[in-house]
Amino acid sequence: QKPTYILSIESSCDDTAAAVLENAKVLSNVVARQAIHEEYGGVVPELASRAHQQNIVPVIDVALKKANISRDQLSAVAFTQGPGLMGSLLVGTSFAKSMALALDIPLIAVNHMQAHILAHFIDEEGFDKPDFPFLAMTISGGHTQIVKVNSFFDMEVIGETTDDAVGEAYDKSAKILGLPYPGGPLVDKYAQQGNPKAYAFTKPKVPGLDFSFSGLKTQILYFVQKNVAENPDFIKDNMNDICASIQYTIINILMDKLKLAVKETGIKQVAIGGGVSANSGIRGTLKEAEKKYGWKTFIPKFEYTTDNAAMIGIVGYHKYLEHQFNDASVTSKARIEL
Ligand code: KG4
Ligand code: ZN
Repeated sequence: QKPTYILSIESSCDDTAAAVLENAKVLSNVVARQAIHEEYGGVVPELASRAHQQNIVPVIDVALKKANISRDQLSAVAFTQGPGLMGSLLVGTSFAKSMALALDIPLIAVNHMQAHILAHFIDEEGFDKPDFPFLAMTISGGHTQIVKVNSFFDMEVIGETTDDAVGEAYDKSAKILGLPYPGGPLVDKYAQQGNPKAYAFTKPKVPGLDFSFSGLKTQILYFVQKNVAENPDFIKDNMNDICASIQYTIINILMDKLKLAVKETGIKQVAIGGGVSANSGIRGTLKEAEKKYGWKTFIPKFEYTTDNAAMIGIVGYHKYLEHQFNDASVTSKARIEL
């Protein structure tokens, strides 16, 4: 049987990404990060869409070259339909449509949140794939969800944030500490040198499997302001301990809900995805949970945690197998259900 070659495009936020997959195997996975947003302390939507416009052709060219695949070998073009920033999504959607039309191959719209979860089905040496049903916790800059995954395209959100996403909690805490955007990876880096029990933050009381992170952010702000008033060098002197304590609190919040989700569903296969699953603390804690609670856990390869096109490609491949195609009337969607 002839292999399937999918070109996939991701442009939902501030990264322009393209990948080529041969069946479930990644041949190339290219990301152009947009440094421009750093000086603004967050993603500026207008600048993001302009940068996508500039990056998309070269990024796709590099992805095809690295994969050593020519355009006429492609079986289909997959793209992120949403959720995300409208101006950013439009660039990828329009480009994918034109390319599918020009090459006369199927067009496949992909849900970005489904892709973070199905990234676990990429063929990758040393990485097992979960069996259905499994639980997936998607933790990123825009989302915090616990999802019951019954099959490739049957997913149920059983818990989600009622306010900020966990990535936002990281980035906003980092901002309070004077760290550049996106601060999540830096908080993680300092946390690894610090004492997680140096300072105590209270966990929010949210019923069921839902999350809340806005109270924690306010708590950290007041805590830092109070201490800086007494000692102007408080942050500098205690960066590692502050970050370790914040990270400890966030991981506890996530783990409490995961444990409850396992208890309520009886499902002991637990996968994580999204940018925050790059976090060393959450990775370590989840690995420990295998021995501690008898879970089987799935942690994605680092390059498939933050936004990437390979995860869009794997969804594209499974939709291709099921002939789930879209016509040229398909539109970008800023909000879209799982
Ligand atoms: O999935 P992603 O790349 O984009 C969204 O769809 O949001 O996630 C980006 C988020 C940012 O908030 C970033 O600070 C966070 O993931 N992040 C981390 C780490 N690496 C990325 N947060 C904590 N620890 C990390 N190591
Ligand atoms: Zn994402």
